[in-house]
Amino acid sequence: TLPPLRAERITASLADLRATATRDSLETVNAQIRSCTRCALCGPATQAVTGEGPRDAALMVVGEQPGDVEDRTGRPFVGPAGQLFDEIAAQAGLDRQATYVTNAVKHFKFQQRGKRRMHQAPNQGEVQHCKWWLEAEVALVKPKLILAMGGTALLALTGTKDGILKRRGQVEDTAYGPVLVTLHPSYLLRLPDASLRAAQTELFRADLAQAAQRA
Ligand code: URA
Repeated sequence: TLPPLRAERITASLADLRATATRDSLETVNAQIRSCTRCALCGPATQAVTGEGPRDAALMVVGEQPGDVEDRTGRPFVGPAGQLFDEIAAQAGLDRQATYVTNAVKHFKFQQRGKRRMHQAPNQGEVQHCKWWLEAEVALVKPKLILAMGGTALLALTGTKDGILKRRGQVEDTAYGPVLVTLHPSYLLRLPDASLRAAQTELFRADLAQAAQRA
């Protein structure tokens, strides 16, 4: 097992990364992500899912963690939540192809129930360990704006997810640069009430439109 991460080690390595931010570095980081064993989530997961998109994207979208489909395919946001994101992004004028799409945590965390793999939210320690990679991605892509989708992304990028409902739609200044706060698209999928879902979808669309406009 790896020794615990220390803040000064992260900072030192990030400084190195910034200094050597060449075209190959994102590939190097992604190769390291694929063989990451920094926390226990790497055991049950099929594979790590790296970010995807142009290395000079003005907008970085950060989700929580790969879901079942992402874990099997190795690509971020391609399952139900990803499809909903794509649909609303298109309506909002946000071009996913021009965006770097990634997750706060790179391995799928789940509980096996019969044949089904039930999503489990990553804990603070897992988010903290995986932040190493998110920091490297931000340092290399250098986005103008980061869209934090949901509590886990918000926790990773700002240190707290408290008050997310009040914070959504706003841009916060962070160590990673400006972060626009929104909810996770899977939240929309879980809303049972149609009119509530329509209202929340409208807010989500407005957040994506704002992200597209600012980036
Ligand atoms: N949910 C996420 O947060 N990320 C994905 O890649 C898929 C679903």
